[in-house]
Amino acid sequence: MRLKPLWAALLMSGGVAATAVAATPQDTVKLHQRALAAMCANCHGTDGRTTDGSAIPSLAGMPREYMVAQMKAFRDGSRPATVMHQLTKGLTEEQIDTVSTYFSSLKR
Ligand code: HEC
Repeated sequence: MRLKPLWAALLMSGGVAATAVAATPQDTVKLHQRALAAMCANCHGTDGRTTDGSAIPSLAGMPREYMVAQMKAFRDGSRPATVMHQLTKGLTEEQIDTVSTYFSSLKR
């Protein structure tokens, strides 16, 4: 067996390292969105789908603008709520945008 030249080994290890960190910006955004959305799953169901007859509304496929508006209304208290006003207080404007974009992109 012939030994590979050093440069080939370096190139290969470099290649491996590059693949390991090859998460695209889109992947990172998706991960971030899903981590946020996981906060909602306990009540709003997996992927924002509640079961039929549930008192808690489904989020999947909800129009983005509507959802952002509701979240902000919960946060500033203009829409009365039992739990959502507490929950939205912990979210930044950006997180509200991110999570609304995510749920609006899902099928109902
Ligand atoms: C502890 C349970 C719970 C969690 C966790 C929760 N929700 Fe809610 N959500 C509710 C309830 C209950 C309502 C009805 C309003 C109320 O009483 O607070 C609601 C209402 C909503 C509404 C209004 C829907 C409509 O039809 O107008 C939106 C939007 C919403 N939630 C988004 C979210 C998002 C996004 C998350 C995660 C960041 C989340 N909720 C996490 C329980 C929860």
